[in-house]
Amino acid sequence: MAELKRRAAVLISGRGSNLGALIAAARHPAYPAELALVLSNKADAAGLDRAREAGIATAVVESRPFGRDRAGFEAVMQARLDEAGIELIALAGFMRVLTEDFVTRWSGRMLNIHPSLLPAFPGLDTHARALAAGVRLHGCTVHFVTPGVDEGPVIAQAAVPVLPEDDEPALAARVLAQEHRIYPAALAWAASGAARLEEGRVVLDRPMAEGAFVNPLPGPPGLPTEMA
Ligand code: GAR
Repeated sequence: MAELKRRAAVLISGRGSNLGALIAAARHPAYPAELALVLSNKADAAGLDRAREAGIATAVVESRPFGRDRAGFEAVMQARLDEAGIELIALAGFMRVLTEDFVTRWSGRMLNIHPSLLPAFPGLDTHARALAAGVRLHGCTVHFVTPGVDEGPVIAQAAVPVLPEDDEPALAARVLAQEHRIYPAALAWAASGAARLEEGRVVLDRPMAEGAFVNPLPGPPGLPTEMA
């Protein structure tokens, strides 16, 4: 029922592959969010073309002219969001740090995707850092946005194995494929109210296991096959 869909904006800065996954999911008649606006802080973001091709309204609010005036930039962005009647924000590769004021205004209504299993590896170059750290599991996280960068209550995570032959592009591709699975699911849960922020934690109206994705699915636990 279209009238029950929450009006969501996707905020991007670049290629927009997560935006593409959200667009594909939102085409389903039962998806609880309508992508009503794609907003970019860069006029040349490739993701804007994906939005236009999908017939979604776009807005560009260049952040560069505002320099350090983050509040000024956000005031213009907020005006665009208000004009479009936006109720929910999905940050999808939006590479601007938001002020505490903006984040607080959207508390419980703004999601972010990050390419690591938070709280490990916040910030940039997550795949190179995971390889350098020698972790066996890496992955991605969708979380509600709080004022700290790449922090906030977790809605969904997906883990991928780090393979001995992995380099940064190979690991990044494996993680990105999982980003494209968990973001549409997490946005749907937030839009329907199945995932809610309550007293700083995420409450899921469904078995908690649904917030965790593992790829590939683990086999039975035990000794390595050659020793069993
Ligand atoms: C994604 O990997 C996303 O997780 C990451 O930027 C990429 C955007 O790709 N976001 C962050 O690092 C946020 N801290 P996309 O434009 O193809 O969706």
